[in-house]
Amino acid sequence: MPGHNVNRVNKEPSRNVNPVIRPIKASEWPEWREVDQEAFAADFSDARAERFRATLEFDRSLGAFDGDRLVGCATGLSFTMTVPGGPRPVCGVTAVAVLPSHRRRGILSALMRRQLADLHEGGEAVAVLYASEAGIYGRYGYGRAVDSMFFRIPKRGSEFVPHAPADPSLRLRVVRPAAARADIEKVFDAVLATRPGLYARSEARWNAVLADEPDAHRGASSLRCVIAEDDAGARGYALFRLKPSSTDHDVPDGEVRLIDLFGLDPAAYAVLWRHVLDRDLCSRVFAWNRPADDPIMHLLAEPRLLNAGWLDEMWVRVVHLGRALPDRAYAAPVDVVIEVEDPVCPWNAGRWRLSADATGATCARTNDPADLELPVSVLGAAYLGGRTLGAYEAAGIVRERRHGAMRALSAAMSWETKPWGGLIF
Ligand SMILES: CC(C)(COP(=O)(O)OP(=O)(O)OC[C@H]1O[C@@H](n2cnc3c(N)ncnc32)[C@H](O)[C@@H]1OP(=O)(O)O)[C@@H](O)C(=O)NCCC(=O)NCCS
Repeated sequence: MPGHNVNRVNKEPSRNVNPVIRPIKASEWPEWREVDQEAFAADFSDARAERFRATLEFDRSLGAFDGDRLVGCATGLSFTMTVPGGPRPVCGVTAVAVLPSHRRRGILSALMRRQLADLHEGGEAVAVLYASEAGIYGRYGYGRAVDSMFFRIPKRGSEFVPHAPADPSLRLRVVRPAAARADIEKVFDAVLATRPGLYARSEARWNAVLADEPDAHRGASSLRCVIAEDDAGARGYALFRLKPSSTDHDVPDGEVRLIDLFGLDPAAYAVLWRHVLDRDLCSRVFAWNRPADDPIMHLLAEPRLLNAGWLDEMWVRVVHLGRALPDRAYAAPVDVVIEVEDPVCPWNAGRWRLSADATGATCARTNDPADLELPVSVLGAAYLGGRTLGAYEAAGIVRERRHGAMRALSAAMSWETKPWGGLIF
């Protein structure tokens, strides 16, 4: 249709709101919960809401007010996340919600801009989030940094390759998750540094993972846990739910719904996968959020049985470019001048020289001519090491001005282990 602007289709006709944005007070928590529940069409139990409240940092939990009514919210959580080079502080953005009566009047934009300005003034150099819909956050300079896979693996035919690791000293222990918490945390803390994107799970977050209220079961069993261990202790764990057969048919058709699986070594990892694949009365494993380089893809003798699908996982925003880029390691030496477009955070816009080698990295403003031009979202997408830049150039999003600069930056920013957050916050 000539002149038709798809961006305008869902605009509400009624008045614009000029919201006041400020941190909420602890006493405003009930209104906050109401906005969150309305926007997500969710009915959180009191216990679940209370667990969420325990993770909130009120001084960085923004509310948008129309008069004295809370109509929108967005919060930032203080996380320590593994990035290429080690653990770093990042801001985990979550609980972003606008009351349905106030949607599409710029409230999200007002919240995002304020949050980014606050971070620039005194917060983390990098923000990360999980998006409810992939079309929302690119406009605020977030880049799609992590791909995750989902697998629906049938038990039948799921043999491993002949050279799959096996360690006869490993044994399995079926245990209630809460009773195994110390072992679970020990394993997770040991793998934390091995993959960009994994973030330290606080006590409150473990409480949330291991809480096992019926509204989290979604038609499946309560949480199950299996520990892989030897005489020296735990070497891995799997957390999952079991969905019973949908009919009384003679052929069992239950499903294992995998939630968390980590091993300290390949043999522990393999024995746990073998266990979930072989569960009696189940005919498949549904693993919804797995890393893009999950070793199970190489263990299965018939990898087509993965029945894999793909999703965007975490999105990353480089909030303070001059601090963020030198604060990670690079896989190869690089010396490039990048011209950055960043209309939302203008303090990042312009030309920067990034120089890095095995001893460290610097990133400073320069007047030298640009080797590459790109939007800041590309730096966010590549920050955790999960992106090469060639496809962005082919898509016309990265523009190379000096031959070889794109490949050099791409090789330097990418990382051997694919990033993955593993747990939605
Ligand atoms: C998503 C949500 C926060 C958007 O809030 P909002 O106040 O309506 O957003 P705004 O009016 O500030 O919109 C800003 C821009 O984002 C766009 N946008 C908003 N929601 C969008 C969506 N779900 N998908 C794609 N674009 C979206 C708007 O069209 C607008 O585009 P423009 O800048 O080109 O004009 C709100 O609809 C909501 O609470 N949804 C349910 C809960 C949810 O999904 N929260 C996000 C959790 S990650």
